[in-house]
Amino acid sequence: MAVPEGTAAAHSPGGVGYRAAAVTDCEAISAFVAGLSPRTRLLRFFTPASPPASAVLRAMCGAGSATDVLVATHGTRIVAHAMAADSVGPGGCRVADIGLVVADDWQSRGVGSEILGRLVARAAARGVRILAMDVLPENARMLAMISRRWPGAAYEFGWGSVSARVRLPGAAAAGNGECGGTALRAA
Ligand SMILES: CC(C)(COP(=O)(O)OP(=O)(O)OC[C@H]1O[C@@H](n2cnc3c(N)ncnc32)[C@H](O)[C@@H]1OP(=O)(O)O)[C@@H](O)C(=O)NCCC(=O)NCCS
Repeated sequence: MAVPEGTAAAHSPGGVGYRAAAVTDCEAISAFVAGLSPRTRLLRFFTPASPPASAVLRAMCGAGSATDVLVATHGTRIVAHAMAADSVGPGGCRVADIGLVVADDWQSRGVGSEILGRLVARAAARGVRILAMDVLPENARMLAMISRRWPGAAYEFGWGSVSARVRLPGAAAAGNGECGGTALRAA
């Protein structure tokens, strides 16, 4: 499904554009998800099922005022999707739950790093202090990405998933010194 023409995207080397998703992207996002391999779907959604639950797809389309959705495009095609769902945690601390996925044929080409960086910059600008990411324990690439970017990340190992939490710089200065508890160092 094509991305609507005329939607402004900031382009990076390689001809990949990055922009906020629009409501009109929903069909293209569904097609993007349907085109993912079972392995990639498993790593992103914790299930290889296709399509994912309709509630998940609605959230990926940006339903809900507290969700920021970015897409990466190449020509008319969506090649990556990243989202941050904001909530207010203990102590009034703003927390963003992050999820991202890159099309199989675009993985390992820098798109994931770029879209994640942009998503996090937007979250920080909104006043988000904690990033939360649930990752499958076998997802070594994503876990390595987190630990290299944020050496101060804290991890909780649950049944079948690893929950990573990152405190963004500025949390203490913003009066959120207790954000995330003492286990978290500012990234
Ligand atoms: C994980 C994912 C988002 C990374 O995006 P990507 O575009 O493939 O990765 P990039 O090319 O930006 O590289 C990201 C990092 O992984 C490293 N990397 C790239 N390809 C790799 C590979 N095949 N094996 C191990 N590491 C690799 C890069 O060196 C880079 O390291 P850095 O963090 O030190 O810069 C993407 O592979 C993906 O969608 N995977 C399936 C879904 C998923 O796991 N989502 C995350 C769960 S929320």
